[in-house]
Amino acid sequence: MKVQLLLLGLLALTGAHKSAKHVGQPKQFAPSIENLDMNTILNEELPAINVHVVAHTHDDVGWLKTVDQYYMGSRQNIQDAGVQYIIDGVVEALMQDPAKRFVYVEIAFFTRWYREQSQQTQNNVKQLVAEGRLEFINGGWCMNDEATTHYSAVIDQMTLGHQFLFEEFGVRPTVGWHVDPFGHSASQASLFAQMGFDAFFFGRIDFQEHDFRNRTSELEFVWRGSENFGSETEIWTHVLYTDYCYFHGFNWENGDEPIQDDDRLYDVNVKDRANQFASMVRQRAASNKHNNVLVPFGCDFQFEKAPINFKNMDKLMNYINGHPEYKLNMIYSTPSVYIKYINSNDITWNVKTSDFFPYADGPHAFWTGYFTSRANLKGYEKSVNSLSHAVDKLTSTFVLSGNDLTTTLDTLEPLDDGYGIAQHHDAVAGTEKQHVAFDYAKRLAVGETAGEMIISQILDAVLNNRTDLDVSGENKFGFCRLLNESTCTHTEQFNSPLAVVIYNSLTYRSSSYVTLPVTSTNVAVTDASGKKVESEIQRNQDDSNKYDLTFLVTVPALGHTTYFLSKGGVRGTPGDSRDDTMETDYYRLTFSSSTGKLVSILNKKENLQLDIAQEYMWYNSSKGDKQDGQASGAYIFRPDGLYSVNDGKIDTSITKGKLRSEARQVWNPWLSQVIRIFDGDSNIQIETTVTPINITDNLGKEVIVRYTTGMKTDSMWYSDSQGLEFIPRTINQRPFWPSFPFNITEPEAFNYVPMNEAAYLRDGNNRLSFITDRSRGCASQSDGQFEMMLQRRILNDDGRGVGEPLNETITLRTQHLISYQSNDIGSLNQRVIGATQSNRLVLAYQSVDGSVETWSKGKILSKSGLLKDLPQNIQLTNLKTLSDGRVILRFHHIFSFDEHPDYSKPVALDLSTVFADIKLNSITEVILTATDETASVKRMQWKSDKTDPKYQYVPLKGTRLLLRPMEIRTFIVTVSRK
Ligand SMILES: *[C@@H]1O[C@H](CO)[C@@H](O)[C@H](O)[C@H]1NC(C)=O
Ligand SMILES: *[C@@H]1O[C@H](CO)[C@@H](O)[C@H](O)[C@H]1NC(C)=O
Ligand SMILES: *[C@@H]1O[C@H](CO)[C@@H](O)[C@H](O)[C@H]1NC(C)=O
Repeated sequence: MKVQLLLLGLLALTGAHKSAKHVGQPKQFAPSIENLDMNTILNEELPAINVHVVAHTHDDVGWLKTVDQYYMGSRQNIQDAGVQYIIDGVVEALMQDPAKRFVYVEIAFFTRWYREQSQQTQNNVKQLVAEGRLEFINGGWCMNDEATTHYSAVIDQMTLGHQFLFEEFGVRPTVGWHVDPFGHSASQASLFAQMGFDAFFFGRIDFQEHDFRNRTSELEFVWRGSENFGSETEIWTHVLYTDYCYFHGFNWENGDEPIQDDDRLYDVNVKDRANQFASMVRQRAASNKHNNVLVPFGCDFQFEKAPINFKNMDKLMNYINGHPEYKLNMIYSTPSVYIKYINSNDITWNVKTSDFFPYADGPHAFWTGYFTSRANLKGYEKSVNSLSHAVDKLTSTFVLSGNDLTTTLDTLEPLDDGYGIAQHHDAVAGTEKQHVAFDYAKRLAVGETAGEMIISQILDAVLNNRTDLDVSGENKFGFCRLLNESTCTHTEQFNSPLAVVIYNSLTYRSSSYVTLPVTSTNVAVTDASGKKVESEIQRNQDDSNKYDLTFLVTVPALGHTTYFLSKGGVRGTPGDSRDDTMETDYYRLTFSSSTGKLVSILNKKENLQLDIAQEYMWYNSSKGDKQDGQASGAYIFRPDGLYSVNDGKIDTSITKGKLRSEARQVWNPWLSQVIRIFDGDSNIQIETTVTPINITDNLGKEVIVRYTTGMKTDSMWYSDSQGLEFIPRTINQRPFWPSFPFNITEPEAFNYVPMNEAAYLRDGNNRLSFITDRSRGCASQSDGQFEMMLQRRILNDDGRGVGEPLNETITLRTQHLISYQSNDIGSLNQRVIGATQSNRLVLAYQSVDGSVETWSKGKILSKSGLLKDLPQNIQLTNLKTLSDGRVILRFHHIFSFDEHPDYSKPVALDLSTVFADIKLNSITEVILTATDETASVKRMQWKSDKTDPKYQYVPLKGTRLLLRPMEIRTFIVTVSRK
């Protein structure tokens, strides 16, 4: 996403903002020709410079148009962009001239194009790739967002792209190219290093930090994205001088003055143009530590007219290279060629730790709104992330072969494609147009349907002890996608017994409460062994004709079990209580008798008492009527006042059950919440429902939940980096910035950072943890306080290109969990429950013909896919079958080295004794995206000012794996059924 100048022109016409200049215009304009100081350009003292022209196109996998509209070049009235023509033209131009190079990034587009080509064209492309003339950089399905994506989704979408490139061309990309995402995460840097990348190029960092780095020649450095791996996953990093687009004035395909070098004709301009170009190169060279300059040549959806661009660049190059007084050596280059030049210099680089969040491109323009924008899409993406893992694991433990393998993997293509596309930095980020958001959701839904069909087929085979899939006819099992809104036809309308088969994709036994909507109180639950399971019926919050049936399920590791719902006698429901407290064996919650709000939490197990104030509030979205003109919008959070949703008395009703107690609170006509605690459960569940935010007062609203405690937190809080390491944050500080004076012009927005899985406050030995069901923004604005943004509805556009106010009219229901525990217990709780968010239980329903006993005969009602449970600090991140039957096996140690006295320890695992039904015939350790063997990959070495011997990689010994904290280890295995 990069706003074109045309749009800026429009903004300027509508009298909009000064700050919009940060959008698309390079911050530096080419000096006008009269002002050029030729002495500066041709100064004999100046060093010779290698000018690396990097021809590229930035193709958003959906933004203003849908991915397929962009591919086809339809809806040109929205944006002039057609990716198929770009690739057509570029391939043709490259074929004509071996000196030209081009880089391509987004494999979701490239595969769409490639599969349509003739054998001849495919062969041409293979030749271009083999010769390095067409180079894939980054090479994921999309250029993923870094704030709102989970690390597992990043790995999945990168693996999808890299697998294609490796299979088809035998290549593996070696540089990360995230020129557009809106801030950069430490985890992304570390993951890129683990993918074997030699360098990471990106564009958007905070403007104050950028200014500082430019002035101190620190736009290039070594980034240490992980404290666990130290120098092992450091990655050399290049921050673009301005943006990733053409030098101003050198965008020929869009009508900038061509290079006129034929002196038989009028208007020869080549010398002036060359001077202009050279002066910009010299300006950039001034902030580098070496004699190379990278010149981005391309922009959003550019190079549709490749010949126009290349022809003019050729003339410019010929002229400059033919005039040694410039001392510029211009070449068609790529980022990987550029770094070879840099790496040959003997330079010691400074090391940067932590991340680049949040990003601001002006004093009032903090891109912290998108951490939360389109909360529903974020939630949906998260549930498909989870479902996708379950589908992959089920298909792989079943060991597909022959026809089942081909058909199943073909069927799952829309799931991989839709889920991969959803990671794009204008998809899950929530910064796309409304019609494109619908398209992403539709793709996820199509993928989900495909996934459910496969789950149904495999569960049917597994239950019936068959080794082949029955692909005929309807799904044997039904699914309920709308459980969050208390809708499930299978449980609401069953009249014979109902089988609920539950699949657990975690590698240890999972116990958790399940709540299903039923329409009668005459329901009893039994488990796979026929034993009655304690259950509870309570009235439903959405529909007075429905009840919630709650019971605790226990599902074997990487396996399934079956529960049965049948008639079992009418039961009563617990009535309302007038008390101000509710409790389980774990917690006692107290509500204020005057306001109805939560005021204290007692952890009974550890005897820890916390006074706490919970408030729902809303920031008034700035309309952009302040002097600088910056409005709050899809990207930017710019508040203009903070208001309580209800600062009076909340209507609270408490229901006390044996398994579940809950407090239902209506805060105002559009916001309500249910606070739930479950017997034995160490987390307090907070479920918030935001019906469309009321905007009849003409005010945009950004709704938060805020917890205020007396905890002494030293102004700190901790938030996860895409589900991996926790990053310490400090109110009004940037602890990881190089030291320079900076201004805080937007105090609230300045403190916002993304959370993907969890965050916490810490006071001495105690921890208040927050676990989220989707990514969102969070902040601490004062000591002992923590807030999360839940939903945004905004009436203005923030001038960053999407051109629509974020005016969603959809109801949001979202959950977060809180727990107050001693630090070690809290850390374990947070990691384990966090892991369940990307490995949720899958519930499949089938009505039982006849009696449960008859139906069950010969069926395998319960089974683990493991020989024994793995410890809770290990996660089976992926078990995914590839098209040739090989399987990607990926384990992750989910703890950081200093997080827990026991769970942070390395774990030894013998891979040959993990799975119950799969025999591993061969095991090869590969790098993170499952391409090259780990042992064969030698990353480029960069000298840095810091070394760290703490981490030691231990290679696989036979089948024995030693998994160290935070390690993610990937294997390609060949398997057969035991
Ligand atoms: C980089 O710094 C130089 C001087 O220190 C300044 O002239 C130039 O405008 C700066 N460039 C950017 C992109 O900030
Ligand atoms: C499943 O089938 C196999 C043979 O196909 C048999 O050996 C095994 O006992 C069966 N398992 C169960 C639980 O019925
Ligand atoms: C929205 O709020 C206004 C007051 O600003 C109120 O008059 C109106 O009834 C509310 N609408 C709904 C649907 O709650």
